[in-house]
Amino acid sequence: MNMTRVMQIAQTHQLWVIEDCAQATGAMWDGKTVGSIGHLGCFSFYPTKNLGACGDAGAITTSNPALAAQLRKLRDHGQRQRYVYEEIGINSRLDAIQAVVLLTKLRYLNSWNAQRQAIADRYEQWLAAMPVVRPSWVEGGQSVWNQYTIRVVSPSGEANPDRPAAFRDHLRQQLQQQGVGTMVYYPVPLHLQPVYQSLGFGVGQFPVAEQVAHEVVSLPMFPELPPDQQKQVVYALKEALG
Ligand SMILES: Cc1ncc(COP(=O)(O)O)c(C=O)c1O
Repeated sequence: MNMTRVMQIAQTHQLWVIEDCAQATGAMWDGKTVGSIGHLGCFSFYPTKNLGACGDAGAITTSNPALAAQLRKLRDHGQRQRYVYEEIGINSRLDAIQAVVLLTKLRYLNSWNAQRQAIADRYEQWLAAMPVVRPSWVEGGQSVWNQYTIRVVSPSGEANPDRPAAFRDHLRQQLQQQGVGTMVYYPVPLHLQPVYQSLGFGVGQFPVAEQVAHEVVSLPMFPELPPDQQKQVVYALKEALG
């Protein structure tokens, strides 16, 4: 994402920019760490994230003191002073045990992210000749590869209208049989989620999002993935794709 452009648009139209950095702890844009570019940056420390706690945790960054004070209040039941509730807040305090885990792991974040980059570089090289769509990125950005997600389509190019994800799902089964775990992030686009049905959107209204949801599959990606095991993933994929 070209964040320079996003910030220009926001400035022109006087918009707030909230960066969703959940999968991007340590990522950079134009020399700046994500979470320091917009007005607010939201980080997830869910265990599968690049910086993961031993349970649920998260953080919000801002350089705006008024926003920081408001968020501190909201996360603690709306109180600034103990037992004086100025507004309805939530309980979203970071647990001290999680903070200890995160502070310890933070020391390793850059080296883990570098290992993820090396894995992504190998995937880029090893998948180059395969009939899959590899991830793309914008010049100036530095990803931290929380996921390495490819897109796959049936060689005939025809999708089964009744089961549009059939090719991808079959491929996943074949990989699973070879001991390769994969995931789909995410199978149902936002406009088709039950919670948003009241907005009145239906199938066919966001065709790109729907198509991508049927084609994406995320390959194994974690800092400790050794090259020989990664090679097995690539061989299994090659075999499954025929
Ligand atoms: C892009 C993105 N945003 C937000 C979230 C939500 O994070 P959390 O569950 O820690 O609130 C996630 C978690 O998967 C995510 O991947």
